Amino acid sequence: MKKTSAESGMEKIQHLNAVLNAVRDINHLIVKEKNRKKLIQQICESLIKNRGYHNAWIILLDGNYNVIESAEAGLGGNLDPILERIEAGFFTHCCRNVLKNSDFLAIRNPTSGCRDCPVSHMHDGRGAMSARLEHESRVYGILTVSIPDVFSSDPQEHNLFRDVADDIAFALRTIDIEEERVRTEMALREARDKLELRVKERTEELEMLSSKLLSAQEEERKRIAGDLHDGIGQCLSAVKFMVETALDQLNQKVPESDLTSLKALVPLLQEASEEVRTIVMNLRPSILDDLGILATIGWFCRQFQAVYSYIRIEEEIQTAENQIPDSLKTIIFRILQEAMNNVAKHSRANRVYLLLRRRKQRIELVIRDNGRGFDSAGIMLLTASEKGFGITGMKERTELSGGEFAIESEINTGTTVRASWDYSSIRCI
Ligand SMILES: Nc1ncnc2c1ncn2[C@@H]1O[C@H](COP(=O)(O)OP(=O)(O)OP(=O)(O)O)[C@@H](O)[C@H]1O
Ligand SMILES: [Mg+2]
Repeated sequence: MKKTSAESGMEKIQHLNAVLNAVRDINHLIVKEKNRKKLIQQICESLIKNRGYHNAWIILLDGNYNVIESAEAGLGGNLDPILERIEAGFFTHCCRNVLKNSDFLAIRNPTSGCRDCPVSHMHDGRGAMSARLEHESRVYGILTVSIPDVFSSDPQEHNLFRDVADDIAFALRTIDIEEERVRTEMALREARDKLELRVKERTEELEMLSSKLLSAQEEERKRIAGDLHDGIGQCLSAVKFMVETALDQLNQKVPESDLTSLKALVPLLQEASEEVRTIVMNLRPSILDDLGILATIGWFCRQFQAVYSYIRIEEEIQTAENQIPDSLKTIIFRILQEAMNNVAKHSRANRVYLLLRRRKQRIELVIRDNGRGFDSAGIMLLTASEKGFGITGMKERTELSGGEFAIESEINTGTTVRASWDYSSIRCI
C-alpha cells in the first residue's frame, strides 16, 4: 500500500531523529574512546541503534590499503568476505569508488549496482551510502551504511552522513596523535633510562677507580716511608754514630782545631736524620698503625703547634679509639692533614677548633678556623685544572668511604671543614 505524504513525512522525521541521536552518541564516543577498535565498533552499533541505518561497517586501512581494523553492526558477521577480497587486492564497487574517486557515494539499488559485493544481497530494497574516512589528506578507510531506499538520494541525508564520516576521521587522527605521543614519550623515557644507567655505571667505575687509586697511593706512601726509614734513615744514623766514635778516638791524639770540620758534620747528620723522620711521619705516621687515630691527632697537633706557634689549637675528642672503624682512621688523618695545611697556607687564622666525636649513629670530624675565609661556592665551580687538589681530595675520600663532606667559608670570619659518616654506610677504600 502506497504511503500518504503525511506518513512519509513522519517516517523521514523519525529516521532523521534516529540519525541525529546516533550522531550525538558518536560525538560522545569520539571524546572518550581512545581505543581504535572499540571506537569503530561502538560507532557502528550507534549507527544502527534506533534503526537510523539497517547496517553499518567500517574498514580501516594503512597507507598501502592493507586492512588494519574493521567493525560492523547489523551484518551478522558477514563482513569477512569483503575483508578477504580487499586483502586479496579486489575492491568492491563502493570501496573502489570511495577510496580512489569521489569521497562519497550513494547507491540507490545495491543489488544491481554492487554485483561484485558479497553482502549486496542483504540490501534488497534499500539504498547504501559510503564515505571515505579522511582527515588532512590522510585516508583512514571507509564507512558504509545501508538505509531505507527513499532516503538514499536525499541531499540532507548525504550531508549528515558526510559529517559523521568527517567526525570519525577526526577521532582516528586524534588517536594517531595520542599514540605517536605515547610512542615518543616511551622512546624518550627509554633513552633517558639508558643514559641514566650508563651514567650510573660510569660513576661506579670511576668511584672504584678513584678508590683503587687512593688505596694504591696510601700503599705507595707506606712503602716509601718504610724505604726512607729503613734505608736512608738507618744509614744516616749509622754514619752519625761512626763519625762520633771516630771523633772520640781522635780526640786524644789530634789538636781540637784539626777536628773542626769533622765535628761540624755531626749536627748536619742529626738534621738530615730528623728531616728523614719528619718526611716519613708525613708520608705515613707509624703512630697511626701503632697507637691509633686519637694518638695520631694528638701528635699531629703538637707538631703543627711547634711549627705554627701563632696558631692556637683547641682540640675536642668525644669518642673512644675503638668507636672509629679501622678503615676510617687513615681517611680522618688525611682530611685533618689537608685541612690543617690549608689553615697554615691560606687562612691567616690564629685559632683552630678541632672536633672528632661520635654522636648517635654518626662519626663527625670538624676543623674550623677563624681566618680570612674564601668563596667556597666559587671554588667548587672551578674546573679540576684551575683548583688545587686539597678540597677535592678531602671530598672524594669522605664520599668514597660512604660519608658526607661540606666546606663552609665566610670572608673575614673563617672556614669550617666538616666530614661525617653514618655507621651503617661506611665503606672500605
Ligand atoms: N682554611 C682556609 N682559609 C682560607 N682559604 C682557604 C682555606 N682552605 C682552602 N682555601 C682556599 O681554597 C683554595 C683551594 O684549596 P685546596 O686545598 O683545594 O687547594 P690548594 O691548597 O690551593 O692546593 P693543594 O691543596 O692542591 O696543595 C685555596 O687555594 C684557598 O684559596
Ligand atoms: Mg690545600
